[in-house]
Amino acid sequence: MLNKTLVEKLKKIQTPFYFYDTELLKKTAATVAAEAKKFGYTVHYALKANSNHKILNILNAAGFGADCVSANEIVRAVECGFNPKHVAYAGVGKTDKEINKALDLEIFTFNCESLPEIENINHLAAQKGKTADIAIRINPNVDAHTHEYVTTGLEENKFGISEWQFNEVVEKIKSLNSVNLISLHFHIGSQITDMKVFETLCKRVNEIQKTFESLEIKLPHLNVGGGLGIDYKNPDANPVADFKSYFEIFNKNLNLYDGQKLHFELGRSIVGQCGSLITQVTYVKTGLQKSFVITDGGMNDLIRPALYQAYHKIENLTSTKAEKSYDIVGPVCESSDCFAKNEMINETQRGDILAIRSAGAYGEVMASQYNLRELPKAYYSDEI
Ligand code: LLP
Repeated sequence: MLNKTLVEKLKKIQTPFYFYDTELLKKTAATVAAEAKKFGYTVHYALKANSNHKILNILNAAGFGADCVSANEIVRAVECGFNPKHVAYAGVGKTDKEINKALDLEIFTFNCESLPEIENINHLAAQKGKTADIAIRINPNVDAHTHEYVTTGLEENKFGISEWQFNEVVEKIKSLNSVNLISLHFHIGSQITDMKVFETLCKRVNEIQKTFESLEIKLPHLNVGGGLGIDYKNPDANPVADFKSYFEIFNKNLNLYDGQKLHFELGRSIVGQCGSLITQVTYVKTGLQKSFVITDGGMNDLIRPALYQAYHKIENLTSTKAEKSYDIVGPVCESSDCFAKNEMINETQRGDILAIRSAGAYGEVMASQYNLRELPKAYYSDEI
């Protein structure tokens, strides 16, 4: 993955830290933009995956809108140059303070997840003499075939409004003066690698649009969320996800009205592969059954393996010896602080530098100070 000169530079930086390959990020962003443009689709980058200023500056320059889940994310996006008119705001628990902030900034749309939320946005917008453009987030009851913690589109999940509530919600919205329904919104889960799932989503969206038509609702926008997965096993073979096939599925299977605009909210697939967590080996501990590589980075720096049993490829950047099998673990006082079990990496010794790959999405943003450890810093390939 990394050439010798770069490894020499990385060795000089205090570990653990996140390292971002800005060239790969720009290449990925350009691919997404070009593939989406073919069909006139709008992509909102989901800030929750990574909200570093530098990354946002690059993605704003690529022409994306923003998908935010808190007022702080909206403010961050605007700080980094995103136009508030291209900000979609999702989340099941938007507070009054957050809604007011978004109203003041006059964002593109509030993706609403419940009737009480719609009523509250109407109330707050009325107080300001404004009308809020809203989308109804639909729970389409489609199985994303992904980890249960990142599946969101099933009836049992807390997200969105289900089919049995459509009538009531539409009637209510018609009676409210300060909200304007402009879009339906769907997001069924994350790290979706089975492309058929998106086909199923398209078919459900077609059915649901028909249901809304029968309620005399035909909307100018449609938002199908994000969720496209990345190749955690082979990041070098597939550094850029298959955006071409992804957008083609929607073009082929989704029935849009004339002039209806299609929006996406992609996070992981845009930033996932450009980031690695770089960590140093503190000790190698040889047990009876297995050997442990103990690193100075831990679950507080990258929680995905502990929280979702997620796989991240790990490489030893400073050894060329034959590969051996190790459990690679962090220093935090929890058995779940384990990055990989039985991972084959070049024979390792104290002081070696490891790269935990594909950590650009939901890595640094989910870091914590558990055990009073320091938050990891970020470094960029074009700055070191
Ligand atoms: N739109 C909505 C409404 C979402 O909830 C999400 C992700 C996205 C878009 C972006 O999805 P993406 O393209 O990144 O899959 N922390 C977990 C992932 C949580 C995803 C939450 N929602 C992980 O590390 O796997």
